[in-house]
Amino acid sequence: MLAIFCVTLVGSNRRASSEPPKGFAQDLPQPQNRHAFDYPSLADPQGFVETAMPNPLKLAFVGCGAIAQWHRRAVEAVAEVRITAAIDVDPAKAEAMAKATGGAPFASLEAGLAAGGFEAVLLMLPHHLHESAALTALEAGVHVMLEKPMATELDACNRILAAASRAPGVFMVAENAQYWPEIEIASEAIAAGAIGEIVTARVQLFFPPMPQFYGGEKAWRLDSHSAGGGLSIDTGSHYIRPLRLWLGEVDEVVAAMEHPFPGMQGESLARSLFRFESGVVASFDLLLTAGAIAPQEIFRITGREGEITIGAGVTLYDAANRRGQKLDENRPQGYMASYQGQIADFARAIASGEPLAASAEYSLGEVRTALAMARSAKTKRWEKVWD
Ligand SMILES: NC(=O)c1ccc[n+]([C@@H]2O[C@H](COP(=O)([O-])OP(=O)(O)OC[C@H]3O[C@@H](n4cnc5c(N)ncnc54)[C@H](O)[C@@H]3O)[C@@H](O)[C@H]2O)c1
Repeated sequence: MLAIFCVTLVGSNRRASSEPPKGFAQDLPQPQNRHAFDYPSLADPQGFVETAMPNPLKLAFVGCGAIAQWHRRAVEAVAEVRITAAIDVDPAKAEAMAKATGGAPFASLEAGLAAGGFEAVLLMLPHHLHESAALTALEAGVHVMLEKPMATELDACNRILAAASRAPGVFMVAENAQYWPEIEIASEAIAAGAIGEIVTARVQLFFPPMPQFYGGEKAWRLDSHSAGGGLSIDTGSHYIRPLRLWLGEVDEVVAAMEHPFPGMQGESLARSLFRFESGVVASFDLLLTAGAIAPQEIFRITGREGEITIGAGVTLYDAANRRGQKLDENRPQGYMASYQGQIADFARAIASGEPLAASAEYSLGEVRTALAMARSAKTKRWEKVWD
């Protein structure tokens, strides 16, 4: 998830801050002028916006913490969805989200389901609560979007998927990288043969601890029980997904993990190699650090005929553009746009009965890869992802 933060550092040495990046404006629906990875301010005063749609999807927010603020901005830009309930065990958070959205506040998922008034839930809870909340919502028969990771153990994932197969509604695991415009632009260029057959790829994501995700009361993310591990199971998914889209399934991984970030029980440094079923090997590195961070490109995809990098925009290097050419500069881009695409796809799948861009089962690939990385860090050997 938190991949995001990192990205705010591309091309700058800015330290972690709760302040929005310079140049930030409340322009989420038109993000083309913003840095590729700008993120919104949690303090933004934008309130409830009446949607023009006659029958928008009525959605309950479950967990009104940090990521819920970003999802709210996305929902406000998607006319097909309206937030009608705000649920959080912290009454102040439920009330604040209710006020901002026009929804009704509730102190528990059960209380919200008993009262009704929504057809779908977006579950945004600490990882150790994903299974119980997902099972409750699926059994209640509402459509469910569950923030990544589906769960932190495969048995729990399988129980959730079994319940989803019996449930009447749509079940989605929210992996917003699937809808990240820069990833889509790179995917299209790769599919069009812009860099030829892929030889290797690299993810390098060094990022700061944004206070709303790593500060004080968010200690659950630093606790290996509630988080289910460290960076790989959490932030890692947003970077594993694009690699899988470009390179296919990960076959095996080898990883070293360390704990340089004070107070974080799970790994705050992971250095790893992924071997894909195609035989291609990619490197995958994550670091959480309060120190200054040098400019970095997050993704580098290397083909026989050139390279594509993703940092501030998508840049193609090929025979005609040895100094690099930005791709699709006029297309709306930015990490925040991914949340709009994601919620719009959820609403479309519910309304049309057509499949999501990626099934919930597909998200097992990120969980399995992260779990294999953790195993490899212990065994110091290559670990299979799917066995
Ligand atoms: N897609 C992304 O980019 C992204 C980014 C951040 C977080 N996430 C994911 O979103 C989820 C939440 O992360 P967060 O950073 O927003 O956490 P958070 O701690 O900021 O928010 C969680 C909220 O859940 C509430 N809560 C706890 N138990 C509850 C319960 N039983 N019922 C109702 N509410 C309850 C807490 O009071 C809190 O407000 C996690 O799965 C995380 O991985 C995704």
